Amino acid sequence: MKARFSYLSGAVVAVAAVALTVPLTVRSGAAAQSTSTPAPAKGVAKGDARLIAGKQVFDKWCATCHSSAPSSPGTIALAAKYEGEMPGVLEDRTDLTPEVVSMFVRSGISIMAPFRKTEITDAQLGDLSAYLSAPIGKRNAMRPKAKPSGARK
Ligand code: HEC
Repeated sequence: MKARFSYLSGAVVAVAAVALTVPLTVRSGAAAQSTSTPAPAKGVAKGDARLIAGKQVFDKWCATCHSSAPSSPGTIALAAKYEGEMPGVLEDRTDLTPEVVSMFVRSGISIMAPFRKTEITDAQLGDLSAYLSAPIGKRNAMRPKAKPSGARK
């Protein structure tokens, strides 16, 4: 009886350990520089793990305002700012450098509040900046449906 009880509690501890480890693994994967490599999505080269992590940061923190949806405030503001000379959709831009992205993310502009390091760590910002300044073909390969900017969802 006693032996059976300790076997069961051992199983409970094991389940709890797995439950705790999974989110931690996912988070450190996103923040990792190059030591641990998250499993690459199908059709994406292993070396692109950093860009995949950056895309996840973008989808979590930026897409609400910078998506291709016609109501996206960031997309609307940037389309107006550049009067169509540059895509309003941030992910369609080919002129962004990691330095420019980092500067806007940490400083904010207009209705875009600065992002704290508790929200986006420096490592995540590195991934995000790498993603937004990566060759457009690589970025499009990571987007569910690559459409020309201005296209409706
Ligand atoms: C609350 C909405 C909002 C969120 C969230 C947001 N932005 Fe913005 N962002 C804007 C708006 C609006 C502008 C345009 C401001 C202006 O110049 O009038 C902008 C401008 C920018 C610019 C400047 C581009 C240029 O050429 O002037 C960059 C870069 C940028 N955002 C990156 C990001 C990134 C990266 C994230 C996610 C970490 C993000 N933004 C999250 C609303 C947002």
